[in-house]
Amino acid sequence: MTSSILLTGGTGTLGRLVTPLLLDAGCEVRVLSRQGRESGNGIEYVTGDLLKGEGIELAVDGAEIVLHLAGGPKGDDEATRNLVRAASQAKVRHLAYISVIGAGQVPLGYFKRKFEAERAVADSGLPWTTLRAAQFHDLVLNVVSTMAKMPVIPVPGGLRFQPVDARDVAARLVELTLGEPAGLVPDLAGPKVYGMGELSRGYLQARGKRRPMMPIRMPGKAGRAYRAGENLSLEGADMGKRTWEEFLVERV
Ligand SMILES: NC(=O)c1ccc[n+]([C@@H]2O[C@H](COP(=O)([O-])OP(=O)(O)OC[C@H]3O[C@@H](n4cnc5c(N)ncnc54)[C@H](OP(=O)(O)O)[C@@H]3O)[C@@H](O)[C@H]2O)c1
Repeated sequence: MTSSILLTGGTGTLGRLVTPLLLDAGCEVRVLSRQGRESGNGIEYVTGDLLKGEGIELAVDGAEIVLHLAGGPKGDDEATRNLVRAASQAKVRHLAYISVIGAGQVPLGYFKRKFEAERAVADSGLPWTTLRAAQFHDLVLNVVSTMAKMPVIPVPGGLRFQPVDARDVAARLVELTLGEPAGLVPDLAGPKVYGMGELSRGYLQARGKRRPMMPIRMPGKAGRAYRAGENLSLEGADMGKRTWEEFLVERV
């Protein structure tokens, strides 16, 4: 059956991986972007801004399913509330959302706003599915490659990650989006837990570089939450297939 899907964030790291999977599944795909883009190759682009509340009614008009991936460092709660309001009016039959492991637990603004956004989805009155994922390999690569430019790499003690490949997240999300609404589903994390030093060492090795590392202590509530593993999902999570090492071989 063909489904018409509104995809927010379809131009981002995750969205660019999701789009071809939806097209392969026979969906009609409409992508909301803040930039005007020419429609083509089976994708209809509509211009709008979830934070400013512009273009959203037109974007959801006629969509049976909304897959909400748009996000940024700030405002995911408000952007999601704006989307939910319009989607409820448009009688969408499934609203699917990507959140982050540690939402509502790690005391940092991003995690708080993702939790608020999750609540907006759950309270929307629409049938919904939310998947919490760990940090994508792409994000970790950004962090470690930036840190590798420093003469000495600071390594916050106790800071651990379970990086997951965005392709694994995209595949799981498409499966969930085209399935029955399922509420909050098991988290999706990468197959291994790494300390910050291990992630940096893997990157340096792949680049054939060396850098001294200096242990530091991450201060405050956020530091405590990370040391307690609030950003991890060690039990009951689904595991992505691809490891950080495999990603590095491909990308570095
Ligand atoms: N990266 C990670 O490690 C990670 C981990 C777990 C969960 N997530 C979540 O996964 C989602 C996608 O992440 P990503 O890394 O693929 O993001 P990304 O590459 O930074 O892309 C962000 C996307 O959001 C859209 N967007 C941002 N602000 C918007 C606004 N006001 N109105 C409409 N569209 C807007 C952008 O579209 P235009 O620029 O075309 O407007 C772009 O397509 C986010 O919700 C993020 O919180 C990410």
